[in-house]
Formats: sequence, structure tokens, C-alpha cells
Amino acid sequence: MVNGSGAALIRPGTVGGGPTRFCAYPADMDDIERAALRTTYDVVAESYANLLPDCSFEADVDIAMIDHFIELAPGRRILDAGCGAGRIVSHLKSLNPELRVSGVDLSEEMVRRTLARGAADDVVQGDLSRLPHTDGRFDGVLAWYSIIHFSPDDLIGPLAEFRRVLRPGGVVLVAFQAGTGRRNITRAYGHDVDMTAFRHSAEDVVEAMRAVGLETVARLERAARPVDAHPQGFVVGRRSDDSVAGVSSV
Ligand SMILES: C[S@@+](CC[C@H](N)C(=O)[O-])C[C@H]1O[C@@H](n2cnc3c(N)ncnc32)[C@H](O)[C@@H]1O
Repeated sequence: MVNGSGAALIRPGTVGGGPTRFCAYPADMDDIERAALRTTYDVVAESYANLLPDCSFEADVDIAMIDHFIELAPGRRILDAGCGAGRIVSHLKSLNPELRVSGVDLSEEMVRRTLARGAADDVVQGDLSRLPHTDGRFDGVLAWYSIIHFSPDDLIGPLAEFRRVLRPGGVVLVAFQAGTGRRNITRAYGHDVDMTAFRHSAEDVVEAMRAVGLETVARLERAARPVDAHPQGFVVGRRSDDSVAGVSSV
């Protein structure tokens, strides 16, 4: 979990699998669920990195959405939000070594693995709902399957943060399993896990983006291939003007 400024607050015993101890400050349900999610990604990080070392699993059209996003970005500063073990950071650098790619992830183990790849310009631990980055810092924010643990009703939280850290005219790309409904995941990356994820419709993502001041410039829903468990969705939005109610301007 992180505090309001995005700095990591590690609650003893709730992260890293140690014995649970009482906290000196109150926890809310979001913090507890986020800590459990973080622990799960810590546990699966090594097998995740081995199973998905690069973007060869992605369909060509998925990669085309990343290409389009990079073409639309008005500069070189890119945030990989929910960077996992760093495969997308490496992909972005292979597209253009001049890109300055930052990473952020909830999981300390994932952060370590991204750092170890040596492709990112900087990587920090943090929460997509409270990004530890200053306003207007990036030209592009990419969230590749990292919003999937937010319910459709909660999407506004990370999307508003993506908008906040974008400069005006900056772009965001989100990827997600398309459809509707909650998924209770009990087995992933060779481990027994207990995770909740959500499918999203491109329409819901477009609406949530509009609500926070991100205007949709491209969207795609594609059918599942035989190797996919679900159809996949992608939306590119652009930070529009600064007059959106409830969204602070840079
Ligand atoms: C399915 S993995 C995708 C990783 C990477 N984007 C990729 O495609 O390889 C989801 C990642 O999002 C991170 N994540 C999930 N919820 C997060 C949150 N609230 N804040 C930051 N990272 C989060 C997880 O720790 C995990 O590394």
C-alpha cells in the first residue's frame, strides 16, 4: 500500500507473507485487498517473468495498438503503469531507444525484476490509484493489463491518476480482458492464488475516460484466439482540456 503521496507504507506482516501484526494506523478495505494483491504478484513474479519474458504472446493487432500509442504521444516520456516484470518497458525501448520509460508497480518483486532488466530509466513501487509522480510529467501512460483488478465502478481512480500525470495532449493506452463480469482466479502462472479480476467493455472504459477528461482516440475489441481465455480490449485516450469538473489542472 502507499500513502497519499505515493510513498510505500509497508504494513508489517501483511506484505511478504510474515505473521500478521496490528497496525499503528487504520486500514481500509482497499488497502487490505491491495496488500493481498501485492503479495500475490510478489509470489508469482518469477514464474510470470519466465512465462512472459517478452511480447511474443501478444497478437499483431495488440502490438499495433502500442505502435499507435507511441506515434500519438507528443514526446518521449512514457510511464508503464503496472509494469510487471518489465517486458513492455523492453518492448518500448526496442521500438525507440530514445524513449524515456519509467515503470511503476504495486509488487516489490515485479519492480526488482524490471530494474534487473536494465531497460527502464526509473522504476518505483506504487499504486495506480495514487501514483508517486508529479502532475503533467509524462507524454504517455501505458497500462497493459494492470487495470484488470479494478471493478468497472472503480476505474475512474487509476484513470484520473493517468490523466493527472499526463501533460495536456498526452495519451494513455489501456489493455484489458474484454467483456463483463468478475473473475475469481485460483490458479495463475503455476501457483495457487486467490485474486479477483474484472472484464471490461471498451464502452465502459471510454465512458470512464470521458469522465476524467480523457478523450478517446482509438479503441479495439478483438475476439479471443485459441490461446486466449477471453476477447481482448484496448482503448487509447488523449488528455483533453483542463476544464473537467473535479479534475485539477496542471
Ligand atoms: C497481469 S500483470 C501485467 C504486467 C505487465 N503490464 C505485463 O503486461 O507484463 C498486472 C500487473 O499490474 C500490477 N498491478 C495490479 N494492480 C496494481 C495497482 N493498483 N497499482 C500498481 N500496480 C498494480 C501487478 O502487480 C502486476 O505486476
